[in-house]
Amino acid sequence: MKLAGKTALITGAGSGMGRASAMLFAKEGASVIVVDVDEASARETARCIQTEGGRALAFRADVSSSEDAEAMVAAALANFGPPDVLFNNAGIEGEGGFLAQLSEQAFDRVIAVNLRGVWLGMKHALPHMIRNGGGSIINTASIAGMVAIRGSAAYCAAKAGVIALTRVGAAEYGRYNIRVNCICPGAIDTPMVERLNTSGGLSKQQTARLSVFGRVGSPMEIARMALFLASDDSSFASGAPFIIDGGWTVT
Ligand SMILES: NC(=O)c1ccc[n+]([C@@H]2O[C@H](COP(=O)([O-])OP(=O)(O)OC[C@H]3O[C@@H](n4cnc5c(N)ncnc54)[C@H](O)[C@@H]3O)[C@@H](O)[C@H]2O)c1
Repeated sequence: MKLAGKTALITGAGSGMGRASAMLFAKEGASVIVVDVDEASARETARCIQTEGGRALAFRADVSSSEDAEAMVAAALANFGPPDVLFNNAGIEGEGGFLAQLSEQAFDRVIAVNLRGVWLGMKHALPHMIRNGGGSIINTASIAGMVAIRGSAAYCAAKAGVIALTRVGAAEYGRYNIRVNCICPGAIDTPMVERLNTSGGLSKQQTARLSVFGRVGSPMEIARMALFLASDDSSFASGAPFIIDGGWTVT
């Protein structure tokens, strides 16, 4: 088992890639703090893990709130010990619309959850990771942080910011044996993409054609990359954006 005896805190773990990662990390021996703003979905993920004999605790937190981010780390400490792995995965797609049409409120909310939330997770977990002698931080960025997606200005800006935060975190905390990496998924089959498919964005077929394989990725294909980054298998990797986009950005 790759994460035996480790404590992993995963945000946005009530759905999609976060849930798949929580299940996989638990199977690999980690005790998982399953964090989501939607408490029922967090409980459901934790229940699935427990049913399979794993250790999990559901915790409700809005990652854009500093108090909540502090509380989720405190919950990890109180129940399973300091986080060895922090997976800042929670995110929202926000409203569509070209940038001049975006409301200030919509712009701010996407930045608050997708960028500030990642920073807050790191801010509150890092002191404990330092005291614990190290750890691995994984942030969910996106291909949207690397290429332009029309109608997603705030989302693209936030994800580019996550890539930058990842680099700075790696540079600042490497001396404490803390690695910081991010994952840049392409189109992955989660409720987020389903919502985009039904809200007048790309159709399912158009989304699939973004990949050279003609299909969307599965949440487990991202979870396996997250496991690599969480475990010692990636012991010399830090500060890097790991692209898993089914070849989207090579064409
Ligand atoms: N699905 C894709 O194609 C895709 C591609 C690239 C990046 N991403 C990113 O992957 C991450 C996971 O997305 P997903 O596709 O699994 O989506 P999803 O909607 O299935 O899951 C996201 C989870 O995050 C939770 N969440 C939302 N706001 C929150 C908040 N403020 N605090 C705590 N939890 C919150 C939601 O309740 C949900 O359970 C996101 O950061 C997303 O931007 C997704």
